[in-house]
This record gives sequence, structure tokens and C-alpha cells, in this order.
Amino acid sequence: MTTPRPLVAGNWKMHGRYSSSEEVNALVQMLRERPAQCDVLICPPFTLLMPFSNLIEGYGLSLGGQDCHHQSEGAHTGDISADMLKDAACSYVIVGHSERRKWHRESDKRVSEKAAMAHKEGLCAIICVGESGKQRDSGETLDVIAGQLKKSMPDDSVAHNTVVAYEPIWAIGTGRTPSVEEIGEVHGLIRKHLTGRFGLDGQSFRILYGGSVKPENAAELMSINNVDGALVGGASLKAADFNGIIEAYR
Ligand code: PGA
Repeated sequence: MTTPRPLVAGNWKMHGRYSSSEEVNALVQMLRERPAQCDVLICPPFTLLMPFSNLIEGYGLSLGGQDCHHQSEGAHTGDISADMLKDAACSYVIVGHSERRKWHRESDKRVSEKAAMAHKEGLCAIICVGESGKQRDSGETLDVIAGQLKKSMPDDSVAHNTVVAYEPIWAIGTGRTPSVEEIGEVHGLIRKHLTGRFGLDGQSFRILYGGSVKPENAAELMSINNVDGALVGGASLKAADFNGIIEAYR
């Protein structure tokens, strides 16, 4: 069993232009000056993967996609394959983000297929799970998360090819976060699921918390038991903010 090295991942969603290279250069500079005790990942829109790959090479910063198709290639207009991400210098891909589940109607089964394709192409899949506000209010959180984990994680998942991200939907982009106890409870359940299903290797999976992580709350959130890093949306777009979150691991 190895203690997971934390991961701080930035999900840029549908934000960023070529001019955002400035932010990446600034982040590289900050990481060079003050290296962090965590892995750092940015997941920009597909159009920026190639240009960013030239900026980050050799600086301990990784690149990831925000989604991939569950098949390797074919007539799928507008989609992108795991192999193409790999070709664009990615080592990670986010799958099953709640925005994909909601707006693209992605099921747990589809998320699992995407993760399996990512694994096949040698990418690490960041599999997202999370309850809605309604589910939280009606006391269903733990059941919802357990169900999503069971169905969204393919059987070939191991600690080095899979990261789980717990992102309560009601905390995404709202400035609200669950309490330390609530996050600890869900991350504890996720760890239990992982060790129950994958044995000792389950201890080594990284479990990220996501949803309104900011420089102001990062240190507290990252110190919770079984929280091995963060998946950051809005606060990952500016190098100074993202660096402020990475600060939790310096
Ligand atoms: P947020 O988004 O940090 O803007 O709340 C997190 C996410 O959706 O990954």
C-alpha cells in the first residue's frame, strides 16, 4: 500500500482562448519557483491541448481532456477519442462530470465505458460522482454515491489508472461547500467502497473533492481524511488563484 500523492486538477470547462497561454506560463513559473508536493493537472478545452503541451513540457504539470468517447474511432461528429487525447499529450481525462451527465444525458454505464476506453489507451480516468441538492436534503447522499461508484467504475480500475472525484452538484460554481464532516463522511464511504472492491489497492486510489474549492478554503478541505486533492473549476482559470489552492501542498 502506498499513500497516494495528491492531485490538484483544474477543469477549465468551456473557458479559455489561445491568449490564456499567459496563465499557463505564469503557473509554470510559480511551480518552478516553489515546487509543490502534489501533481498538478490542467484540463483545458480540446482546442488548447496541443498549444499548451508545448508550454508545460518538463515542468511537472500534466494535461487532460474533459471528456472522451467510449469508442476508439468512427462516425461520431464532434466527439473526441481517448487515443486522440493521448496523441495531444494528455495523460488524464475527466469522465462523468455532472455537467456531462446532465446536459449530455450520460448514464453510469456510459461513464464506465468511457473510463474503460481511457484505460485501454493508457490514460488515467478521473471519474466524477456527486449528489444533487435534493438528494442531499432527502438523506440519499450515501446511497447515490455508492450506486454511482458501483456502476461508473469499470472492473479494470486500479489506483494508477483511476482517480475518483466527489463533486456535490449543489456545490459546483455556487460558492457553497459541504461541511468538513459531510465531506469526510462521503470520502470515507468512497474509500470503503474502493477497498471492498479492489482490496489493498483501494487504499492507493486518489479521491478528490470538487465544488467551490478556492484559495481561502483549500487548506481546510485538503486536510480532511481521505481527501487526496481537488478538482477545481472556476478558480483554476487564473494562475494566481490556482496556485493559491496548490499552496495547500507546499
Ligand atoms: P467549481 O467547479 O470549482 O467552479 O465549483 C468544480 C467542477 O465542476 O469541477
